[in-house]
Amino acid sequence: MRLLFVNPAKLLPLLTVVLGLSACSIGEEVKHIEEVQRAEMRQETARSENLTGEQLFVRSCNTCHPGGLAGMGPSLAEINTAIPDDAQLKALIRKGRGNMPPQSKETMNDPELDNLVVYLRSLNK
Ligand code: HEC
Repeated sequence: MRLLFVNPAKLLPLLTVVLGLSACSIGEEVKHIEEVQRAEMRQETARSENLTGEQLFVRSCNTCHPGGLAGMGPSLAEINTAIPDDAQLKALIRKGRGNMPPQSKETMNDPELDNLVVYLRSLNK
C-alpha cells in the first residue's frame, strides 16, 4: 500500500478542502430544511380554523372599527344594507380598500373569513 507512506502533512490541504466543501453543503442542506419547515408552518397557519369571528375582528378590525362603530374606518352598523352580498364583503376584506389593509389567506384562511363574515352580519341587527 503505497498510500501509507505518504506524508500525512501533504494530505492536510486536501482534507481541508474536502471538509470545507461538505461543511458548506451541510449549511445549504440546513438552510433548505429550515425553508421547508417555514413553508409547512405557513401552510399550517393557513389551515388553522381556530379563530372565531369575534377573535378575528378584535385582532384585525377593531382598531379602526371599534366595536363595529366608526373610528379611523366607517361604522359597520349598517353593513347588511351597505354590502348585502357575502362574496362582495369577503372580496373587500381580502383586498382592503384605501387605508384599510388587505387580509391574505396566510393571516386569515377561508373558514376564518367565513366566521368573520358571520360575526360582521351579527353586528347589524
Ligand atoms: C387601518 C384601519 C382599518 C382596519 C385595520 C380595518 N379597516 Fe375596514 N375600513 C377602513 C377604512 C379607512 C375604510 C374606508 C375605506 C374607503 O372606502 O376608502 C374601511 C372600510 C370598511 C368596510 C366598508 C364599509 C362600507 O360601508 O362601505 C368594511 C365592510 C370594513 N372596512 C370591514 C373591515 C374588517 C372586517 C376589518 C378586519 C378584517 C377591517 N375593516 C379592518 C379602515 C380599516
